[in-house]
Amino acid sequence: MVDFCGIELRHPVINGSGTFDAIAARRAFGDELLDEFPFSAFVSKTITPEPRAGNPPPRLWETPSGLINSIGLPNKGLDGFLADDLPQLAELPVPLIVSVMGTSHDEFSRLVDGVGGRDEVAAIELNVSCPNVKSGLIVGESPEEAKSLLGAIKPLTDRPLIVKLTPNVADPVPVAEAAAEGGADAVSLINTLRAVAFDPDKADRWLGGGSGGLSGPAVRAVALAQVHSVASSVSVPVVAMGGISTGRDAAEMLGAGAALVAVGTESFRDPAAGARIADELDAELARISG
Ligand SMILES: Cc1cc2nc3c(=O)[nH]c(=O)nc-3n(C[C@H](O)[C@H](O)[C@H](O)COP(=O)(O)O)c2cc1C
Repeated sequence: MVDFCGIELRHPVINGSGTFDAIAARRAFGDELLDEFPFSAFVSKTITPEPRAGNPPPRLWETPSGLINSIGLPNKGLDGFLADDLPQLAELPVPLIVSVMGTSHDEFSRLVDGVGGRDEVAAIELNVSCPNVKSGLIVGESPEEAKSLLGAIKPLTDRPLIVKLTPNVADPVPVAEAAAEGGADAVSLINTLRAVAFDPDKADRWLGGGSGGLSGPAVRAVALAQVHSVASSVSVPVVAMGGISTGRDAAEMLGAGAALVAVGTESFRDPAAGARIADELDAELARISG
């Protein structure tokens, strides 16, 4: 058992937001999914206050050892999530973490108010990779923005707040420290690295949304470096992700100071990857200690 912000988890492997659709997986695999759920907690895909259609296609581009996505956070909005998705996600056999993203303190407050009071929700992850409409600054790239956001929303909920850090900064430590000072209970990293795919025939970027975010094994060494710096600098628990596809990868992240790891892109290749990585991690930790 692992204690994460007071939440008991069966093992240290969870999913990265937006990379495992538990509702679709249950439709595909039936209740077997619940018997053998691959993660010890489930992180929802990011929701926003209002519904979003997401970016135009194409939305995915494969790179050497990686994936560029430009999905654009399609979602049903807060009300749609609470009415349609939450009851289904509450049936999962693991604690639920809801990922939210707003473009102002008011929007984040609405989201945290809306999900934070629900018994089904164990914790809230704040996706801060988008600009604050007032300042134009990306919250996750600015220590001041991060601290002031936490100051505004921390009083609204007693649920643990996890701040998901962007790697698109020279150094993620100041933002992590500001988030922790502002009252974040944990930080998670990394979100995707800004990237583009190019179409020479069109002389333009290939993805419908223009630029996208790189994930998968291609980003693992960057993630490891950032996890190591952040975990050495803050006292709140760190959730590490970025290219994890084996128990060895997960063990390296835990060795770098993470409390939990999250699996993202690898789940597209193997929907049961979370369970396999948890088993491999167990064996790897036994080997290291033994
Ligand atoms: C297709 C796709 C969709 C994603 N959607 C979200 C999202 O909705 N919210 C979020 O915070 N991160 C999102 N991410 C980022 C992942 O949660 C994770 O931080 C990142 O992909 C790095 O982990 P990985 O290399 O194991 O995939 C998405 C990643 C991918 C590949």
